[in-house]
Amino acid sequence: MEQTFIMIKPDGVQRGLVGEIIGRFEKKGFTLKGLKLLTVDQAFAEKHYADLSAKPFFNGLVEYIISGPVVAMVWEGKNVVTTGRKIIGATNPAESAPGTIRGDFAIDIGRNVIHGSDAVESARKEIGLWFPEGVANWSSSLHPWIYE
Ligand code: TYD
Repeated sequence: MEQTFIMIKPDGVQRGLVGEIIGRFEKKGFTLKGLKLLTVDQAFAEKHYADLSAKPFFNGLVEYIISGPVVAMVWEGKNVVTTGRKIIGATNPAESAPGTIRGDFAIDIGRNVIHGSDAVESARKEIGLWFPEGVANWSSSLHPWIYE
């Protein structure tokens, strides 16, 4: 079953949005497979965002991600990478539709509350980086009621 990496960024944690965000993924029907609160250092944040290292906003982005604790999660389900991105909304909250997490809770692109993997391959890499210990081995017994 497909998995994605979702991270509530420091502003989401500070603003008390953790329960709201987890609730949206839970209520959709996805399965929580990994969850931890942690603060990462600069080297780790630079590794997570390595693909963006040439961008002008890279240093500010790294500073923001290391500025406080984040909630790192692995969610599982059919098409969870693409659907997770839809639940999150467009990168720039000014363009994220109402009803999405960024559309409902964020204003600035550099304070957009949440990260979600953009492809199955990047999800695999990000889960490996953030959860080297692996994730929980369980499956929800609700599956027969959620999937056709
Ligand atoms: P990106 O991977 O393009 O977006 P997404 O998080 O939607 O996959 O960019 C990573 C983060 O970098 C993005 O969530 C917010 C930040 N960012 C900026 O601060 N300024 C920008 O112009 C862009 C494109 C991104």
